[in-house]
Amino acid sequence: MHPKHPSESLTILTDLVLPSETNPLNNLFGGELLARMDRAASIAARRHSRRITVTASVNHVAFNRAIALGSVVTVEAKVSRSFNSSMEIFLDVWIEDRESGVRTKANEAIYTFVAVDEQGRPVTVPEIIPETELEKERFDAALRRKQLSLVLAGKMKPHEATELRALFL
Ligand SMILES: CC(C)(COP(=O)(O)OP(=O)(O)OC[C@H]1O[C@@H](n2cnc3c(N)ncnc32)[C@H](O)[C@@H]1OP(=O)(O)O)[C@@H](O)C(=O)NCCC(=O)NCCS
Repeated sequence: MHPKHPSESLTILTDLVLPSETNPLNNLFGGELLARMDRAASIAARRHSRRITVTASVNHVAFNRAIALGSVVTVEAKVSRSFNSSMEIFLDVWIEDRESGVRTKANEAIYTFVAVDEQGRPVTVPEIIPETELEKERFDAALRRKQLSLVLAGKMKPHEATELRALFL
């Protein structure tokens, strides 16, 4: 299986915020943004693995900025690291100013997807080779985030999370 670069999974999803997708403050409903990010992440995971992929976990979501009705929202998803069958997908969310076209970062999130066969059993995915500084930074921290996610899900004992523990020692 040939290694791939994060850029090969890049997925860009641009859409408007419509009235039916907002909360009483006329800002984008959080669950709608989660769904858009899940879709973009799913496509990125599929582009990397060329297999069926399922969401295993939403590891981190930061709703730093409200997104107003009528905004043009762009979700960018890329695989930041692959393991055996799992892939960490990093998502950056941007809002575009209607008049100037200037893009501002609104939110970010990290999802974990797993590649599976037709019976839903995990299958191996290609390795990933980061290229840019940001890709290398995200790649390096991904193992600690995987360990944290597994510990929180009760699938790993805290004392087994060696790289994560090293952060605090
Ligand atoms: C995700 C799923 C395939 C994992 O199956 P499993 O029996 O736990 O399989 P494993 O224990 O072998 O784990 C497979 C991989 O997922 C990773 N994983 C499982 N749970 C995880 C979690 N909470 N956080 C991060 N990684 C996780 C494991 O570390 C492993 O990674 P690796 O192969 O790269 O080392 C299975 O739980 C599943 O199908 N869940 C439902 C998915 C779904 O329907 N999503 C949509 C939600 S509506």
